[in-house]
Amino acid sequence: MIDIFDLEDKHIVVTGASSGIGRETSIRLSKLGAKVSLIARREEELKETLSVMEGEGHKYFLCDLSDTESINNLVSDIVSASGPVDGLVHCAGIGVNIPVSLTKADTLDSVMKTNFYSFAELIRLLSKKKNCNSGASFVGVSSVASIKGDKSQGAYAASKAAMNAYIHPAAKELAPKGIRVNTVAFGVIKTEAYKKFLEAGGQDNALENQYLGYGEPEDAANLLVFMVSNASRLITGTTVICDGGYVS
Ligand SMILES: NC(=O)c1ccc[n+]([C@@H]2O[C@H](COP(=O)([O-])OP(=O)(O)OC[C@H]3O[C@@H](n4cnc5c(N)ncnc54)[C@H](OP(=O)(O)O)[C@@H]3O)[C@@H](O)[C@H]2O)c1
Repeated sequence: MIDIFDLEDKHIVVTGASSGIGRETSIRLSKLGAKVSLIARREEELKETLSVMEGEGHKYFLCDLSDTESINNLVSDIVSASGPVDGLVHCAGIGVNIPVSLTKADTLDSVMKTNFYSFAELIRLLSKKKNCNSGASFVGVSSVASIKGDKSQGAYAASKAAMNAYIHPAAKELAPKGIRVNTVAFGVIKTEAYKKFLEAGGQDNALENQYLGYGEPEDAANLLVFMVSNASRLITGTTVICDGGYVS
């Protein structure tokens, strides 16, 4: 029987691999035979992720993705070290909890740089012929906030909505190269970031609407693995929602 999730020898780049959804996705990809390039800023945490991954050939790269100029060198380093890529899972992101009355352009700019500009820049550079194999799948981790944002989520919601909008033209432009581009919009997933959000005074109004309950990092990893595998080969230019019913 053919394993539709087989990722044997596929080279997948995972940003935000030092914690939460990115960490869990990296581990899951390794168990399915993928070679993973892990990206984040915290070296010790990246080493920790690596230490529990299976298989050979994984490498980590330190990069502050909010510095979009550094992404050019990052992509060159990844491809020189591990060859052209078969997929990208862009988990790196920051959440901010600021009301409209305090949201100024510099806040918007900082959130957009980390969450959206880095996604666009990774797509631009990784989709170059020398950097990418045909059949590649690029996935950005978005949020239901992009569809139904709560109070104080303006900057975050806008950055995730930008990702959702960007993939429509990108999917059409990159299809001739055999590249798919999608986002996945998660509801609440119980990672460290969610705990920090609560500690910082974030309002947890979601459970009432997320009636299937909150997700675990494993739930997010399951979908992301599907999205970079050939099992999702007909899915492109869309936002897949995984939210326990939140936006229904
Ligand atoms: N958890 C949820 O409920 C939920 C729901 C919907 C969407 N999401 C999205 O899912 C993604 C992952 O979230 P999570 O819950 O797993 O959060 P997390 O544990 O805080 O992970 C965020 C990751 O992003 C990396 N990162 C942040 N800023 C970066 C930068 N400037 N350069 C490079 N890496 C950076 C962090 O690594 P370093 O700090 O080591 O750089 C970390 O690995 C985010 O995009 C988030 O918006 C989460």
